[in-house]
Amino acid sequence: EPPKLVVPKAVSEPEEVDDGMKKVTIFFGTQTGTAEGFAKELAQEGKARYDKAIFKVIDLDDYAADDDEYVQKLKKESLAFFFLATYGDGEPTDNAARFYKWFTEGGERGNWLKNLNYGVFGLGNRQYEHFNKIAKVVDDLVAEQGGKRLVPVGLGDDDQCIEDDFAAWRELLWPELDQLLRDEDDATANTPYTAAVPEYRVVYHDRPDVSILENGTIHAKGHTVYDAQHPCRAIVAVKKELHTTASDRSCTHLEFDISGTGLAYDTGDHVGVFCENLIETVMEAERLLNLPADTYFSIHTDKEDGTPLSGSSLLPPFPPCTLRTALARYADLLSSPKKSALIALADHASDPSEAGRLRHLASPAGKDEYAQWVVASQRSLLEVMAEFPSAKPSLGVFFAAIAPRLQPRYYSISSSPKIAPSRIHVTCALVYEKTPIGRIHKGICSTWMTNALSLEESIDCSWAPIFVRQSNFKLPTDPKVPIIMVGPGTGLAPFRGFLQERLALMESGAELGPAVLFFGCRNRKMDFIYEEELNKYIDAGVISELVIAFSREGPTKEYVQHKMTEKASDIWNMISEGGYLYVCGDAKGMARDVHRTLHTIMQEKGSLDTSKAESMVKNLQTTGRYLRDVW
Ligand code: 2AM
Repeated sequence: EPPKLVVPKAVSEPEEVDDGMKKVTIFFGTQTGTAEGFAKELAQEGKARYDKAIFKVIDLDDYAADDDEYVQKLKKESLAFFFLATYGDGEPTDNAARFYKWFTEGGERGNWLKNLNYGVFGLGNRQYEHFNKIAKVVDDLVAEQGGKRLVPVGLGDDDQCIEDDFAAWRELLWPELDQLLRDEDDATANTPYTAAVPEYRVVYHDRPDVSILENGTIHAKGHTVYDAQHPCRAIVAVKKELHTTASDRSCTHLEFDISGTGLAYDTGDHVGVFCENLIETVMEAERLLNLPADTYFSIHTDKEDGTPLSGSSLLPPFPPCTLRTALARYADLLSSPKKSALIALADHASDPSEAGRLRHLASPAGKDEYAQWVVASQRSLLEVMAEFPSAKPSLGVFFAAIAPRLQPRYYSISSSPKIAPSRIHVTCALVYEKTPIGRIHKGICSTWMTNALSLEESIDCSWAPIFVRQSNFKLPTDPKVPIIMVGPGTGLAPFRGFLQERLALMESGAELGPAVLFFGCRNRKMDFIYEEELNKYIDAGVISELVIAFSREGPTKEYVQHKMTEKASDIWNMISEGGYLYVCGDAKGMARDVHRTLHTIMQEKGSLDTSKAESMVKNLQTTGRYLRDVW
């Protein structure tokens, strides 16, 4: 065994680096950029408040290369903040996953963080069962290991107004930081701080270079390390409607061709898809900005002389392109605007009454109005801009402070590389719903998929930048282990991949254990997706039992969890024999109800009391035998 490293004792005051500056480290675990944005906002405001402090914003993944380095470096931190988002089934973001696993499972124990003053702000959604789990767990664990908590853990709730939650948390923090970071003779400390509206430097170009224009950030074929920053250009090879004409909804089966790209995936993984806004959405934005669609421009985070622009919250620029392309690919135009966006709009409103109303909406006094008129009404950024026609922001402000970057959408891959090595299949329900004020909201990515042109239809088929996100939603390594799959609607997607994998295993001579699939849909004649395929899997012995709940056929609703109750003995037996349970689909309704049903089954079939049944379910979860892929 190698000798243990001797770690120098950390100082207990905020660490003083050169010239008496105190160091503050701000970590973020981000998926869509909100946590990162908050981290940068805190740093920016901190810098403005405290002359004698250096604020560093760090991606948790970039902080340390391995577990040892986490220990060495964290021991030296004396003042740190964590911005941590919680996803899906109580999971950390990709870039926090390694840190979280190490910190909660294998990390140092004892009083080793006793020199650390810290605070945690969580980003979550109260609608979900594991509301802000990651932030709460980290907050507790740092305290347990000696850290001094400066403020209670912030529980940001995306269901309401997470910016307000962040603002409230920050207000608690400043008095604490004043004590740690303020100079005795610092007279500016009490002056109120107003954040400057961030803005890119914009350069307009006369003659667009068509090759840059159309290729964007997309890497050339053959590049092998793909991620959200380096997606892979994949064409749509196949597109099919999965609902029958009797259905008033739509669900699309799409196949991305990944042959020759080097992009690889595993059964159960997710695919991230960068889609484009509809042309009608883009044209409305062009109208509101009052700029021609072919305005060819680039955005920059530095000044003309190459020195960085002040304000650290700017995302890396997108490549030079026309306004039409920029609006289609990079701007989230349909989400409700954040308060900071309203302030930026107010700055550019020529009509003072419009500017005043925008500022009011973003102010503490306008809190309820914002919650009602913007959030609850699901007013999109474009709808809000249409109400304030005198607000004509510059492109530098629009892309920096008003329209957030359009984020990739994630889908559970519905194929297995064992059967479809050069294709990534997606099963996507169209989002098409009326907002409270009567706008038809068309889900950006599902609409893009529904409208996509496949290679079967045209040589000029649709394509998108995509990348693969690994998941832990995997079949047991031993194919003989019994499995129970619960996936109503598009929750069927990853199980279609599982079944393909089992078919491949069977064809290569493996012996398969029992597999029960619980599927649910409204009506056999409308939305029983992949019906033929599933029947083939039954005939082949890949599925041992298919149990279907039709919710709108009979007089009463039948859901998958009702069918589970009917099959309680089978479920109990399979789990007792070491079986695995998988649930995929809607987190807020279905997965929560299925979870309760599972608990009841354990309790009744095992003759257990509530707490015993609960710990049994917990145990299934911690041992990886109860896995959920929920959204
Ligand atoms: P419904 O639309 O008739 O309510 C796939 O979307 C299937 O899941 C549909 O049949 C849908 O039924 C059903 N579903 C809706 N809410 C559910 C819940 N809480 N639990 C289980 N299934 C649900």
